[in-house]
Formats: sequence, C-alpha cells, structure tokens
Amino acid sequence: MKNSFFQNRIAVVTGAGGTLCSAVAVELARQGAKVALLGRTMDKLERVAAAIRSAGGTGLPVSVDVTDAAAVEAARQRIAEQLGPCALLVNGAGGNRNDAVTTTTEFQPAEIAEKIPEGMRGFFNLDPARLLDVITLNTIGTIVPCQVFGRDMARQGRGAIVNFASMNSYRPLTKNLAYSLSKAGVVNLTQWLAVYLAPAGIRVNAVAPGFFANERSRKILMTEDGGLTARGQTVMAHTPMKRFGEATDLLGSVCWLLNDEQAGFVTGITIAVDGGFAASSGV
Ligand SMILES: NC(=O)c1ccc[n+]([C@@H]2O[C@H](COP(=O)([O-])OP(=O)(O)OC[C@H]3O[C@@H](n4cnc5c(N)ncnc54)[C@H](OP(=O)(O)O)[C@@H]3O)[C@@H](O)[C@H]2O)c1
Repeated sequence: MKNSFFQNRIAVVTGAGGTLCSAVAVELARQGAKVALLGRTMDKLERVAAAIRSAGGTGLPVSVDVTDAAAVEAARQRIAEQLGPCALLVNGAGGNRNDAVTTTTEFQPAEIAEKIPEGMRGFFNLDPARLLDVITLNTIGTIVPCQVFGRDMARQGRGAIVNFASMNSYRPLTKNLAYSLSKAGVVNLTQWLAVYLAPAGIRVNAVAPGFFANERSRKILMTEDGGLTARGQTVMAHTPMKRFGEATDLLGSVCWLLNDEQAGFVTGITIAVDGGFAASSGV
C-alpha cells in the first residue's frame, strides 16, 4: 500500500547500494519519494537507481564517502539542485571489517606470547588504526550526514532521520569490539540528537536489525552449501523466530519512523527488528 506522505518528498539514503538500504531506497521511491542514493561504489548505486527508474520512480545515485564532510556537503548541493532540499534521511552506511575483529572469543595465552600463532588476532593484537576505521564509519559516518542534511531540514523547520543501530548496540557480540561500541554509540547519538533537534522540528530515531545475511555476514553465518556455520547455529539458537531477517522485514519500521503523520510524536527511540533475539536469554 502506498502512503501519500512520501509523495515528492526528498529522501537521502546512505549505504543505498547495500543489502538493507537498497530495499529501503526502492521502497521509499515506490511510495513516491525522490530518493538520493549515497555510497562509495557507483555501480551498486546505479543498479538500485535503475530498479527505481524502471518502476517509474526517481533515484539519483551519488558516490560519496559519508565520513568526508566536504564531500557530503558537495553531494548535498548536487541533490538540492537536482531534486530539492532533503526532508528525510536514512543513515544505512556502516559496517565492520575483518581486520578489526578478534579471531578468538576469549583471551588465549598465545596472544601475548613472543611469537603469535599465524592468523591469530586476540584483543592484545588488535590494531587501533583498524578499530578507528570501524568506529569512524559507524559514528562519524552517521553524524556527518545528520549535520549536512539536517541543516536542510532545520531550514525547512521539519524532517526525520533514521539511523542504523544493531543487536551489538545493547550487548556486544564476541569478536566485534569496535563494531559493537560504535553501534552502541549510534543508539546514544540517536537519543542525543533527538533531544537537540526537537526544537528544529526534526525527529531522530533508529532501527536495530538482528541478523540479516549480507555479503560479509553470509560468509560468517553460512556454509557454501547453504547450511549454517557454528556461529550461524549459535545465532539461530538465540533467535526465537528461527530465521535470518530479510531486507523487507525492516521496511515497515523505517517508513513508519520517517512518516510524520504516523510517528509524529516519536523521537529518540530505537526499534529492534530481530526475530526476538534481544528478548531471548537463550535459556
Ligand atoms: N546485515 C545485518 O545483519 C545488520 C545487522 C545490524 C545492523 N546492520 C547495519 O545496517 C546497515 C546496512 O547493513 P547491510 O547489511 O545492508 O550492509 P551492506 O550490504 O554492507 O551495506 C552497507 C553499505 O554502506 C556503504 N558504505 C560503507 N562505507 C561507506 C562509506 N564510508 N561511505 C559511504 N558508504 C559506505 C557500502 O557501500 P560502498 O562500500 O560502496 O561504499 C554498502 O553498500 C549498516 O549500518 C549495518 O551496520 C546490519
């Protein structure tokens, strides 16, 4: 069903070439929004824009690194010229990197040995520069678009922002130090910004997806023959709905949070979309 609220509104979606936010971008366009698609890899954005256009919608792909304030400001100017000032922002750009996670789930004496075993990366072997890459992407990469596109919204006296948190925001998953602390930061940022921007008429909320298979997590959670890895089995054992999420599972929450007519008094919250993972103690 289409909702007239989105008709001709200008929406900016970061991470729009990715698994979850490509679906968000397509859905917003289907509901009538003019959608700017932000990410670094133009090919991925072009594919999503083509899908939007072939369904009769408006999708403008813009290649930009969301942690680069000057580049995001240049993107804003282009979007303002071609579509108009931003009214809705979805901050989906984010993620993790293999060299910023530990290979062990708990301390192993070998990680402090003179010669660390090949391929081992414990807490004591993590490179702070790689941790900072992940923290910067998930926190500064959310803050910068809020500053740049939030300014458009503040000038209009209204707007809505949806950030992407994670199950790691509440309880850190083993191995994922930088990702967990940065996604905890996204929940905190969402609350802080909701309070700060309320007088500007801008609502700020977040979704916290549970386990959705994307390019990176598929390799961690699934075997090549479509079965589950040991980690995938652990995730499933703690997911009462016994499946991974699909991008379409997020659309209702994201669209509802963006919609002033339906969620006009909702700000500063994070909605878990997780098949019950956060509710489950596993016992
Ligand atoms: N999948 C899950 O299970 C899950 C669970 C909880 C939370 N999340 C969060 O949900 C969001 C979307 O996840 P996803 O599964 O759709 O991941 P994804 O498929 O990897 O998509 C993320 C997108 O962000 C873009 N991106 C990364 N760094 C960027 C940068 N510096 N500037 C601009 N764009 C950048 C990437 O495109 P380029 O590399 O081309 O820039 C990529 O298309 C992320 O914030 C993720 O942390 C995902």
